[in-house]
Amino acid sequence: MQTITLKAPSMESQIHIGTEAITARLPVLTAGQKNFVVTDSNVRALYSAWFEKYFSDARIFVLPAGEENKNFSELQAILNEMARAGMHRTSRVFAVGGGVVGDIAGLAAALFMRGVSCVQIPTSLLAQVDSSVGGKTAVDLGGVKNVVGAFYQPCEVLVSSEFLKTLPPREIKCGLGEIVKYAALNAEIFDELERNTGKFDDLDFWASLTGLCIRHKARVVEADEKENGERKSLNVGHTTGHAIELASGLSHGEGVLFGMRIETKIAIEQGVCNRVYGERLLALIDKALAVAPQSVPDFSQIGEAAENARADKKNADDGKIRMAVAKDKGAWTMLDLPFAEYKNCLIKYVK
Ligand SMILES: NC(=O)c1ccc[n+]([C@@H]2O[C@H](COP(=O)([O-])OP(=O)(O)OC[C@H]3O[C@@H](n4cnc5c(N)ncnc54)[C@H](O)[C@@H]3O)[C@@H](O)[C@H]2O)c1
Repeated sequence: MQTITLKAPSMESQIHIGTEAITARLPVLTAGQKNFVVTDSNVRALYSAWFEKYFSDARIFVLPAGEENKNFSELQAILNEMARAGMHRTSRVFAVGGGVVGDIAGLAAALFMRGVSCVQIPTSLLAQVDSSVGGKTAVDLGGVKNVVGAFYQPCEVLVSSEFLKTLPPREIKCGLGEIVKYAALNAEIFDELERNTGKFDDLDFWASLTGLCIRHKARVVEADEKENGERKSLNVGHTTGHAIELASGLSHGEGVLFGMRIETKIAIEQGVCNRVYGERLLALIDKALAVAPQSVPDFSQIGEAAENARADKKNADDGKIRMAVAKDKGAWTMLDLPFAEYKNCLIKYVK
């Protein structure tokens, strides 16, 4: 078992990676207080014996699976259920699922009695390499992603690749969205991906990168927990990704891959991304998109997507769209574009 300590200014998190993370830590973490589990309908159905083994005494809230349920009314339902279950300050919340469960359960833990202990047990590749770490919690509101949320660090994150065995291929691809993002920021991960393009359909290869991705994220979050500077780098591909995700019905990780492709092309055109490096990154993005290929997404609402980007949290008040983009190997920068120019680029590069 590999353990990474994330020393954020607000709180320290222990991240345990390996199949023993569950067997070694979960019995310890569930002992001695009331426990409340948030999971989703798919994970609950697939892992009923697992829940019986580790959470027979806990109250389990089952969220219907899907991003559309990462909303205010489900958040309220979770908080109501926590109150009904008699949870108090010393109780503990366990988020068992993908990024949707992690985000909404983390926010419920942050809000209930102004904060109860939270353990993240990520079960999707995306959640294992990225969303379960770093303390961003949120729900979507009014068609805008993650617009209501809090920074709230989990006390522990237990990452076991055993869960990935039941993950559908399309969800593997979603995880690749965040892994390729790390490749755009970290030279070691970039080289690993370029060296192993023959293994893009090998789950063990992706699981082997978990530690590298989490280590990168932990270092960034330690330096800038509240996203005033370096943490903005973790949004590479996300301004456009979030915008097209909601307008085209793509999953988050797929949106990030398409978003990174579009934003990298914009960055090359604007002269802020080294062209040779940019082409190499684009090749990795295309390779990842080819995993579990699907029919071409519906981009007919791309104008609407541009409007979505207007509401992005990263934008300043000057009406420009702000994106974190790849610049060169292991280097990134912020790029601002006037809205009309951004919209034109989106239409041009979405194909
Ligand atoms: N907090 C952060 O820092 C952060 C970072 C990146 C993404 N996110 C958020 O994460 C969400 C996307 O996460 P996601 O891709 O995990 O989506 P998700 O939680 O919807 O999970 C994807 C699908 O996989 C299923 N699933 C999960 N684990 C499974 C398993 N072991 N076996 C079979 N099926 C399984 C789920 O039921 C769901 O249908 C988005 O809401 C995004 O905004 C948050």
